[in-house]
Amino acid sequence: MRATCFFLLLALGVHAAVQSDLVKYDSKGRLAYTKNSQGDRIMDYSSVGYRGGQALPDPSVIPTKVTLNPSGGDDTATIQAALNKVAALPLDSNGFRGAVYLRPGTFHISTLTLSASGVILRGAGLDSSRGTTIQTKSDVMPIQIYGSTKAQLGTKKYFLTKTNVPFGGNTLPMQSTAGLKVGDSVYIYSTITAKFIHLLGMDQMVRDGEAQRWITAGQTVTTDRVIVAVTNNSITLDAGFPDSIRPELFDSDKDLPYVVTYTWDRLQNVGVENLRAIHPATTESNTDGFIDIDKAYNCWVRSLFLQDYGTGGKARLASDELRVRTVVTTQGDSKMITIQGLDIRYTYTDNKIAAPPQILSMLGTQILHRDSNITGGGKFWPMSSGSPRARGPTVHYNVNINAGSGAQAVPHMRWSTGILYDNIVNPQGSVAISYRGIMGSGHGWTMGWGVIWNCEAATLCAQNPSNMYNSSTPVLYHNWLVGGKGKNIPGYQSTELIGTYDHVGTMVSPDSLYIAQVKNKK
Ligand SMILES: *[C@@H]1O[C@H](CO)[C@@H](O)[C@H](O)[C@H]1NC(C)=O
Ligand SMILES: *[C@@H]1O[C@H](CO)[C@@H](O)[C@H](O)[C@H]1NC(C)=O
Ligand SMILES: *[C@@H]1O[C@H](CO)[C@@H](O)[C@H](O)[C@H]1NC(C)=O
Repeated sequence: MRATCFFLLLALGVHAAVQSDLVKYDSKGRLAYTKNSQGDRIMDYSSVGYRGGQALPDPSVIPTKVTLNPSGGDDTATIQAALNKVAALPLDSNGFRGAVYLRPGTFHISTLTLSASGVILRGAGLDSSRGTTIQTKSDVMPIQIYGSTKAQLGTKKYFLTKTNVPFGGNTLPMQSTAGLKVGDSVYIYSTITAKFIHLLGMDQMVRDGEAQRWITAGQTVTTDRVIVAVTNNSITLDAGFPDSIRPELFDSDKDLPYVVTYTWDRLQNVGVENLRAIHPATTESNTDGFIDIDKAYNCWVRSLFLQDYGTGGKARLASDELRVRTVVTTQGDSKMITIQGLDIRYTYTDNKIAAPPQILSMLGTQILHRDSNITGGGKFWPMSSGSPRARGPTVHYNVNINAGSGAQAVPHMRWSTGILYDNIVNPQGSVAISYRGIMGSGHGWTMGWGVIWNCEAATLCAQNPSNMYNSSTPVLYHNWLVGGKGKNIPGYQSTELIGTYDHVGTMVSPDSLYIAQVKNKK
C-alpha cells in the first residue's frame, strides 16, 4: 500500500520534501507562518542584503575609470590616488562613479580606504596565474569601507504603547504617530533591563568565586529601520523588529521603547570584488583581518579568495594579547551589506589558542553572507556575532565549511538576536545556538530568536534561552531548529536544553528559508 502511494506521488510529480510546520506554503503558494502560544513566529529575512534583498549589480553597469598595473613595489599610494580620483567623479544615474580596475598580477598594499559613495575596487579574478592578487602586510586592516558622516537625529521621541509585542512582526504599536511618515528613517531605542537579565539567570553566573558579567542593565539597544506604513496608532517597518517587547520585563516605565527619526547621507554603493588577497606567509603576527565596514549601507564584498587572514598565530600564542581581528567585519552602523562568494583558505592548521578567532563578525542590520567556502585552519568561529548590537535580521546562507571539528558556526557570546543560519554545511564541526554559561568570563546565552534551517553538521542544535538556575522560570525566548542533518541532537554543552524543533533529521521544504522569503516578496 505504502509503495503504491509512493509511486502514485511520483507519477503525479508531487514534491517529495516534507513541509516545515513553522513556515509553509499555503494553498495560494504564499508563505504562511505558524505562531506559538505567545504569538511569536520566525521572522521575515527577505529585506536582508544589498538594497534590502536585491541582487548585486552586474559589474558591466559600473564602468572602469582607472586601470592599474602592478609596479613591483608598494602600490598603496597609487591605488589610493586612483580611488580618490574616481571619488571626485560625479555619480551616474545608478548611483556609481566607477571602478578602479587592478589588472592581473601581484599588487603590494598596506591600507586602502574607500570612503566615497559609488566607488568600486575590482580585480581580474581569482585564478592564481591570470587573476589579481593583493599581497598585504602584517598588523594592518588592508581594506576599510568607512563613511565619514553620521546620523542627524530628530528631536522628538515617539513612544510605543505599553503592550506586549510578540517576536516576528514588522508593526509596532504607538501612542501617537503625528509627525511620522512613510519613508522616514528611524531608530527604535530599547533598553536591556535587570528583569530581563534575571529572567535568564544571567545575573547568577559565578566562576572561581567571582560573579561573571553578561550584558549590562541600562544599556540602550538601537534598531535601524525605515517606516513603510503609518496609521494613527502604529508604524510598520521595512524589516521585523528583532526582539519581543514585554512590559513585564521593564524595570520602570523609563524602559518603554521609543522611536526617533534621523537623516543621514550615508556612504553607499561601495564594493570590493573579484580578487585574491594573501596574508604574509609568516605566522609571526598573523592576526589581521581583511576588510572592515562601518557607517555604510548598500555595499558589498564579492568573489574574493582570502588566504590566512585573522587566524591568531604565534604572536598571539606568545603574548596572549587580544589582537585577533575578524576577517570580514561589519560594525554596528552597517546596514544592507552583501558579502558573497568568499573562498577563505588557511594554509596551516596549528591554531590551538584558547579563544579562536572569528572569520565573519556581522554587527549592524540586514547583513547577508552567502555562497562561501571556508577551508582549513583548525579551531575558529567561522560565523559569529556577539553583542546586543548584532540585531537581525541577519543571514548566513549556503556556506560550506571544511575545517575540522573545531569550526563552530555559532553565535560566539552574549546576546544577539534574529540571525538565520540557512543551508550551512559543516560536516565535522557544529552549527549551534546555545548556552555557553561561564565560558569566557560569562558568555552566557548567545542568542535569542535565531533560526537554523536545513543545515548539516556533526553537532547540530538550538537551545531556548531559559534560566539554568531556576527551572520554574517561564521560557519566553526561542531559537528554532528546522530540518537539517547532524548527530548529537541536542547535546551541545547541555543535553537537557533544547530549542523549538521542527522536522530535525530531514531536509524540509522550502529548501532555503531566505530564498523562499525573497521570492515570496515579489
Ligand atoms: C486619526 O487621527 C485623526 C486626527 O486625530 C482623526 O481625524 C482620524 O479620524 C483618525 N483616524 C482613525 C482611523 O482613527
Ligand atoms: C565553493 O565550492 C563549490 C563546490 O566546490 C563551488 O561550486 C563554488 O564555486 C565555490 N565557491 C567559492 C566562492 O569558492
Ligand atoms: C524561580 O522562578 C519562579 C517563577 O518565576 C519564582 O516564583 C521563584 O521565586 C524563583 N525561585 C527563586 C529561588 O528565585
